[in-house]
Amino acid sequence: MNAISTILLNGLIVAISFYVYKSYSGLNIVDLTELDKCPFCYGKSACTSLFNGNIKLNSSTSNVFFNLVNAIVNGKNVFYGSYKQQSMYRDIVVKKLANNEELNMFDDYIRTHFGVHSNFQKMEKDFKTEIGKFLTMSTEKAEVKLKLCPDPHAFDVLLNGKKGLSSEDYIHFYTMLYVNPEPILLEVLNASHGWPVPQYYGSCGRLAVMENCGTRLSSLLDTDWCQRVKLARDIIHMAYNLTYGHDRLSVYMTDVSLDNLVVSDDEVVKIVDLEHTIVVDRHPSTTDLSESWFTPHHTHHQPCDQCFAYSAEDVCAHRISDHNFYAVCKEVLSSSTSLGLRPLLHSPPHFLQGEASLLSTLIESCVDPPPGV
Ligand SMILES: Nc1ncnc2c1ncn2[C@@H]1O[C@H](COP(=O)(O)OP(=O)(O)O)[C@@H](O)[C@H]1O
Ligand SMILES: [Mg+2]
Repeated sequence: MNAISTILLNGLIVAISFYVYKSYSGLNIVDLTELDKCPFCYGKSACTSLFNGNIKLNSSTSNVFFNLVNAIVNGKNVFYGSYKQQSMYRDIVVKKLANNEELNMFDDYIRTHFGVHSNFQKMEKDFKTEIGKFLTMSTEKAEVKLKLCPDPHAFDVLLNGKKGLSSEDYIHFYTMLYVNPEPILLEVLNASHGWPVPQYYGSCGRLAVMENCGTRLSSLLDTDWCQRVKLARDIIHMAYNLTYGHDRLSVYMTDVSLDNLVVSDDEVVKIVDLEHTIVVDRHPSTTDLSESWFTPHHTHHQPCDQCFAYSAEDVCAHRISDHNFYAVCKEVLSSSTSLGLRPLLHSPPHFLQGEASLLSTLIESCVDPPPGV
């Protein structure tokens, strides 16, 4: 019996070591790109920097550990690294934008729908049609992560003024729309124009490279209350700017959380997860608009346990919606966040007394306004 347990134990140790070794060797940044999957990948603009060693995964012990754990638990494949640009080192995050299972499912889908990808040069027209078809799927369909309305065929607004795109570019665009449209939005909302999103440094194969924007808000819940108030103010500004700030598009966040908002050392708050959004073109060329288009949309709070309920169809039927304000009030400020965490403005200082209870009433009525408000 003892001999059997020893053999089993040794076998287990060998299996775990092999698994850890395999995961660790998979952490080579070049292997992570999976360039052989192109053109069904996110692009190649960051490949030169990556191949000449300017884009690297971090090698400090804590980061190697984090990156390794990430690889083993098959999370969303978010890795930390650095980017050397003109002799300056920037902290970056490299993302595969999906977990391995989701990427495998995408590969299966491509194989069954388009066969092997050898003839993609001829596929530009097909892919423009595919993109239109894909975005037209019902606003409620979960697989459409970026819901573009009111006219899903008018996806040129998401191409950021790029002209003369090749068939390969359209396939990259399609791949991102399907797998995770985050890089598309990072280009539409360019961080260097002041948008509260990570700076996008480009992609190489199945890796997107972007600015590391700091520490998630959920780890900062014990900081000084006055500091948290400033962050709350900036998050409300973010909701305002994403709704009104772009001259054409309103971007509605549908996955705001204390994990997806991060804060830099100089206290700039950014939203770092843009996988699911609703994008409304406020000046569409289509005249096929719903009757409600010119009246503002007021979200109806739908209580649900540890979740965030909204209707993409309702948001899409209006030129302007209060969705972003609802989302940040519900998921950041209120006591009913889906993650079950404390709200950002918990435990106000004693000297505030009456004001603190007024503040919490205001937050709860932002989530669920009393009748007539
Ligand atoms: N650009 C970034 N800067 C700093 N932290 C980030 C960045 N992107 C992601 N993260 C951290 O990694 C976590 C997971 O990344 P995310 O894109 O949200 O993937 P998931 O789809 O798994 O939620 C985020 O909640 C955030 O804390
Ligand atoms: Mg996230």
